[in-house]
This record gives sequence, structure tokens and C-alpha cells, in this order.
Amino acid sequence: MTNGGNLGVIRSIRDIELTNKTVFMRLDFNVPLSAPDDAGERRVEDDNRIAESLPTIKYAIEKGAKIVIGSHLGRPDGKRKDEFSMEPVAHRLAVLLGQEVMLADDCVGEGIELMAQGLKNGQVLLLENLRFHAGEEANDPDFAKKLAKLGQVYITDAFGTAHRKHASTHGLPSLMPVKGMGFLIEKELKYLDPLLNGPKKPFYAILGGAKVTDKIKTIESLMSRVNGIVIGGAMAHAFWLAQGDTIPAGAKAPKPEDIEAARGIMKEAKRREMPLLVPADTNQGFDIGPKTIAKFSDFLRDAKMIFWNGPLGWFEKPEYATGTFEVAKAVASLDAIKVVGGGDTVSAIKESGLAEKFDHLSTGGGAVLEYLEGNGLPGIEILRSSRQQLIQPTL
Ligand code: 3PG
Repeated sequence: MTNGGNLGVIRSIRDIELTNKTVFMRLDFNVPLSAPDDAGERRVEDDNRIAESLPTIKYAIEKGAKIVIGSHLGRPDGKRKDEFSMEPVAHRLAVLLGQEVMLADDCVGEGIELMAQGLKNGQVLLLENLRFHAGEEANDPDFAKKLAKLGQVYITDAFGTAHRKHASTHGLPSLMPVKGMGFLIEKELKYLDPLLNGPKKPFYAILGGAKVTDKIKTIESLMSRVNGIVIGGAMAHAFWLAQGDTIPAGAKAPKPEDIEAARGIMKEAKRREMPLLVPADTNQGFDIGPKTIAKFSDFLRDAKMIFWNGPLGWFEKPEYATGTFEVAKAVASLDAIKVVGGGDTVSAIKESGLAEKFDHLSTGGGAVLEYLEGNGLPGIEILRSSRQQLIQPTL
């Protein structure tokens, strides 16, 4: 159980009776798919999120639950679109689980309710994409009520979607009396919570990626916790312009609001007397240069905790991957707790071959950034149940 002070308690799947129960499991199977092959079929290109959900699914199977899994895939905007079907996910899940997975052709309605009711202990039914219905993203109470008919117990392990206040992540659990989190969310919180509450010092953040404005609230929150920030990726361009430097010809110019945000961050770092390192050189505006690699690696040397979000260059192109991979090598060698968030950053660390040296590669992108803003995530906070007091009949 996770204690939320006066806010109530979040139950773990371990604390919930599952045997003979139908469990509605909200997972984040929003995974990248390949283009269709000659037979028109797509494959899951990165099954990390599915693999990370397996301990929870397997536990429920072992306990003799009947499992109904709901997830979104992509952004079909409330319409049924074949390219966002869960079918490739069902195939991959069946392989990883080593057992049959039934795929429903929708996620709500009488037919689906009958399918859920017909499940035997240990069987798995995967619903079709929740976002084929506009009610999902609108957090429509009627849609949530329909989903609630599919299970007696609600378990979420959809950490990557926990920042979304949608029907399956918020409306539905608010209707379910028995609810809790799976092992993946437990693991995410185990590594992410210390970044917010009592991080080991020195604690440094490595931030890259495209836009400053996308991360501004996270950066503001991190500034009260970290001992220094290093900046790379296209985001660095906004900082260069904010400090009066130029950006290389051919590099994409940041928007005025990104430059403004960078200026604000620099001012705040100065006020706090906190080191804020921006690149000293660049490889054509698409990667950090050798001087910067050395400067960053040296600065991070005494770290006891590191949070990294955003590649430091266009690492998908081998000619611009050096900066990200070299800094990954320097970080990997440190005796520090190393946490990585964001799909691109996790891919970069995996591609560097150093994933094993990092303590935690989060399955969340936007969810990690919002978690680090420090206000909780709607899909997790809704799991808190009120404390009960037993009043004894004494005078
Ligand atoms: C993600 O991949 O970040 C989550 O699955 C959420 O997806 P969304 O940004 O489309 O809501």
C-alpha cells in the first residue's frame, strides 16, 4: 500500500482479492507499430510497455482472475480507424504471455459484456482501442458506466497514461469500489518518488528534446530539488538565443515563447546560484560537440542521483548520436541512481547498449514530466480510498 498522508491509501494488487473476480485492467499498450506489410498487417515495433505489464497480468492469472484489458493506441480521435486496431498488440501479448488472448471487436456494449461474463478463471480478453469512442478522452460518465459493467475490480498499471483524465483512467475508477495499482506503477513510483521527495544529493537533471515550453513546469519544479541542470538537444537553441548567442545556419529556430521560457529559467538559476550548463559547441546544430561532451561528463561526475529526459542530439541519425551516447557512457559509469524518462530518451539509452547500467527506464513520457511537477497524476490519485475509522462503543 502507498500512504498518501491524509489523502488516503492506494491499494496494491497484492492487497486485493482476485480469485473468481472479473478484473478490468487499464494498461498502456500505446506502442509503436510498423507500416503494414504486403498482407496489410502491422507489427509491434517496441514491446517494452507490453513486457512491463506482464508481471501484473500473470499475477492476476495465477490468482484465478478473469482479465479484461483496456488500452488506447494512438490518437484515432473517437473514431474506429483500422490503423489503430489493437490486433497487433493482441498477437504480441499472446506470444509474451504464452497463452491465448481473445480480442474483442469493440470495448463497450452488450456483446462485450457477454464476452466478459463468459470468461473462465485465468482467461484474458483484450478490448479494442478505447479511443475508438469519443467518450474515452472526454471522460464521459456514460461511457465510464459502460466500462464499469465489464469488471468487479479495477486495476491500473497504465503509468504512461496516468496524466490523462480520461474515462478509463479517471471516470471508471471513480465508479469502482475495489481498485488498486499493479506492479509497474508500483515500480515507477519507487524510482520517481525519491526524485521529488528527499533526492540524494548532488542531484542533477539532464534535459534535451525540442521545446522548452513543453517542459517548463517540470523544469520549474525540478529547480527547487536539483543541484544543477545540463541542457542539450534542440532545446539548447532557445538558451543560446536567450543569452545573446546565434544558432547555426540550418538549425530550426525556436519559437519566441521558448526563448522567453529559457530566459526565465536562466534568471531563476542565477537567483538560486545553481549551475545551468548549455552546450559550448555543436555538430551543425544537430548534436552537442566534443567540448560540451567533456564539460557535461565532468560536471556530472559527483552525482548521486540523475534524472534524464530528452536526447542531446538527433540520435536516430548515426552522425548526430555521439553526444547522447557519450554522455550516456559517462552517466552509466557513475555510482548514482539513474532514472530516465520519455520514449525517445529510453530508446536512445537502449540503443547505446547501456540500458542495464541505468536503475530505471520509465514507461512514461508526458506522465513522468507531469509527475515531476509534483501535483500527483489523476490516474493514480483517483485510486486513493478514504481512511476508515472504527469507533468503539465505549462511553
Ligand atoms: C503516451 O504514449 O505518452 C501515453 O500513452 C499517452 O498517450 P497520449 O499522449 O496520446 O495521451
